[in-house]
Parts: sequence; C-alpha cells; structure tokens
Amino acid sequence: MAKRAARFVCQECGAVTSRWSGKCESCGEWNTIVEEAATADIMAAATGKTSRAKGRRLVLSSLDTPIPEAPRIETGIAEFDRVTGGGLVPGSAVLIGGDPGIGKSTLLLQVAATLADSGRRVVYVTGEEATAQVQLRARRLGADKSAVALAAETEVETILETLSAGPPPALVVIDSIQTLQTSIAEASPGTVTQVRASAQALIRYAKLSGAAVILVGHVTKDGQLAGPRVVEHMVDAVLTFEGDPSHAFRLLRGSKNRFGPTDELGVFEMTGGGLREVDNPSELFLGERDVSSPGAAVFAGMEGTRPLLVEVQALVAPSRLATPRRAVLGWDSSRLSMVLAVLEARCALVLSSHDIYLAVAGGLRIAEPAADLAVAAALISSRAGIALPPDVVYFGEVSLSGRVRPVPHASGRLKEAAKLGFRGAIVPPQAAADSEGCATSEVALLSDLVHRIAPNG
Ligand code: TYD
Ligand code: MG
Repeated sequence: MAKRAARFVCQECGAVTSRWSGKCESCGEWNTIVEEAATADIMAAATGKTSRAKGRRLVLSSLDTPIPEAPRIETGIAEFDRVTGGGLVPGSAVLIGGDPGIGKSTLLLQVAATLADSGRRVVYVTGEEATAQVQLRARRLGADKSAVALAAETEVETILETLSAGPPPALVVIDSIQTLQTSIAEASPGTVTQVRASAQALIRYAKLSGAAVILVGHVTKDGQLAGPRVVEHMVDAVLTFEGDPSHAFRLLRGSKNRFGPTDELGVFEMTGGGLREVDNPSELFLGERDVSSPGAAVFAGMEGTRPLLVEVQALVAPSRLATPRRAVLGWDSSRLSMVLAVLEARCALVLSSHDIYLAVAGGLRIAEPAADLAVAAALISSRAGIALPPDVVYFGEVSLSGRVRPVPHASGRLKEAAKLGFRGAIVPPQAAADSEGCATSEVALLSDLVHRIAPNG
C-alpha cells in the first residue's frame, strides 16, 4: 500500500496540489480547493492495472490497414442519431450536459424506450430520482410498456455488479454522473475525485462489454459541465442539451465526437407528452414572426449539414447614457461591435449615440460569420425605421473594409429559403444563381445595403 499523502483538489478544474490555498493556481478560481483523502493511485485502481515491470509486445500496423466501419446502434430517434453521427457506437461513452430541468432525463428515457422497443436490452440507472418518479415520467411519455430495465442506485460497484449479471445491454444510461460514488476513491460524493473515478469505471465497463454508456452531467451556472473537465476528455463524445426555458424548443449539439461530426444540431420541442422531434426547424424558428415592424431580418443559416432559417431582431434607440447600451442575445457581442464599427466607418451610419439590442429569435445561438449581413440589415432597418420586405433572406460575411464576402453552402441556403416561400435573397457577390423562385440580388459593399434599405437616409 502506498503512503497516503494529503491531496488538495480544485473542484472547478480538477488540478491537484499538495498544499491548500485560497486560489487555484491552475484556473484562478477562489475557494474551490478541497482536501480529498485518496489512495496513492486512484487511476491505477480504477483501471484495474497496477504498475508492471515488464511490458508486452504490441502488434504495429501500417496507416493503410483497412479500418472496419464503426458499427452503429440507431436509436430510432432521428434527431439524436444525427447529432451522434448516425447512432451510438457500441463500447463508446457519451456525456450529455445541460441545465437542470432542460429535459435530459426526458430525452434519455425516450431514447432508452425507443431502443428497447426495437428489441435491444437497455438499462437505465437513476441516482437522482426514485424509480417511481421515472415510472411516472415513462407513463407520461407513453413509454411505460417499453422493456427498459430500471434501477435507482448511486454506488458504482453495485451498478457494475448488476450489469455484469445479465446479458450485456446495448445501452446503459447513468443519470447522473455527479450522484455516483465508488469506494475506489475515498473522497465524498460529488467531488472531482469521485466523479472522475466513477466515470473511469463506467467507461472501462463500456469498452469491455461493448455496451454504449451515456452519462448525464450537470452544468454549472456559467455553462460548464460541473466537476472535472477531465470527464470530457475521457469520454468519446460530449453532447449538450440546451434551450431557453421560456421556449418549447430544445437543441442537442455535439462539442466533441470521436466517431462523427460536431457541428450537427438536433431540434426537439418539449410538449406535454415529452420531446417531439422537429424535422423542419426553420418553420419553428420563423413561427412567431412579426413582419411589419422595422428591425427584423431573416438569416439563411447553416447548422452542420442542415440549412436553418432564423429571424434576427435589432432595436436601435436614441440613448441618454454617456456610454450607450449594447446587449446581445444569441450572437457574439464582439462580432456585433465589429458590424457596428463598419456601419459607422464605411457607411456613415451614426450609431454611437444609440442603445442597441440584438436578439436571435427563439433562443437559438448563431456562431456563423455568415450572419453579419442579416445583422447589419436588421440594424439598418431599425435605425431607419423602415421594415424590410418580409419575403427576403440575408446571408454574407462582412469584412472590416466594408466588403461583403461569400460564404459556404449558398445554394443549400437558397433552396431552404425557396422551400419556405421566400422570394428573394440578398447575397454576397458570386454566391449562387437563383434557386427555384428565390431571386438572388448581390451586394458587394455594406454601404450598398444601406442605400438599398434606406435610400433617403
Ligand atoms: P427533465 O427531463 O426532468 O430535465 P433534466 O433531467 O434535464 O433536469 O425535464 C424536466 C422538465 O421537462 C420539467 O420542467 C417538465 C418538463 N416536461 C414536459 O414539459 N413534458 C414532459 O412530458 C416531461 C416528461 C417533462
Ligand atoms: Mg434529470
């Protein structure tokens, strides 16, 4: 048995030090360092390996050895399968994070039930709720007849023992990783050490048994997956389930995926009977449009391989403040500052004495620079007090020189716009030809857009 030494672990970033201090040297957070008694080598115990003097010989392969295609377990919930890259990979571990109450347990119970209905063995372990609560939820979802094996347990050893007793499941759901505890680590439940050791044991189980393991993780107030970032590094895929609690739609995104893309978006709507898949999200995001008021522009965006139309709303109002307000929801605030600076410097549009509010409708977050042109259109429209034509979409990147730059997937964006009844599109030069009734009109300079929207401004 190795000598025990005091260990101090930052609960925020997982950094280990030998002395306590008020501030974590590693992540700079205050009051996050907690003493955790631990055996000398938790990792070695968790992986079941102890140090060995002699190694074994590996079989080395060439780079062009044929790789077998990773088999997939399609869950039957298309939006979920899209984000995972075509279904769950056997033997893989997936972490799903999200705010409390956003619908993680609902989503995973639906995934579990749908998979069980296709004849696969599925085990759902909850450490958060009593079995009766999960059963009630299943009834509400109309899934109470599905053959999901359910247990309420928090001890990792007991869970693993139970899992190894029956036939190997195709999927194990653990809700949530923060509630688990293992005797491998001597720290109290919920600490970084416990979470890490528990995750390690379950991931090892996934690899050995070939079951796909989904771990639910809580998110802290600043949007980080609580506890150790290390769990994110340990699993094969990290998904986040997000949404504005005041809206019904919920978005599933991948931020890491060893077996697939990370830019796909799954869209769901929370209803009285659980989550409903939304296969045409543009219709949903444009659902509550008010076409007559100035300051609203429709952005033809892309989320992964799927075009997504969404409304960008701006409000530009004279300010009495020395430093006017700038508030942004769903877009990057430094990107907004850049568009504002270009409008002022290159288009002679005075905005510095105005408060500016910008919001992406429906609680969606846009990361694409292609939204620049739609944002600019919304700002110009609100500043001039002139509503934009309701049946026109916008996309294009704006450079600091005031030029409008081409963006990828122009034809996909135009097709989606045409499909939803839009008749025109304001696009960068050389974007694409007209698409099925959606006539394109090119703008080379942002100042051209200003003249077009407000010819007398
Ligand atoms: P839940 O899955 O418990 O969230 P999480 O596991 O992420 O904490 O979902 C909680 C919310 O979803 C709760 O506010 C109620 C709502 N909900 C519905 O609107 N319809 C439903 O059918 C279900 C099961 C939940
Ligand atoms: Mg839950």
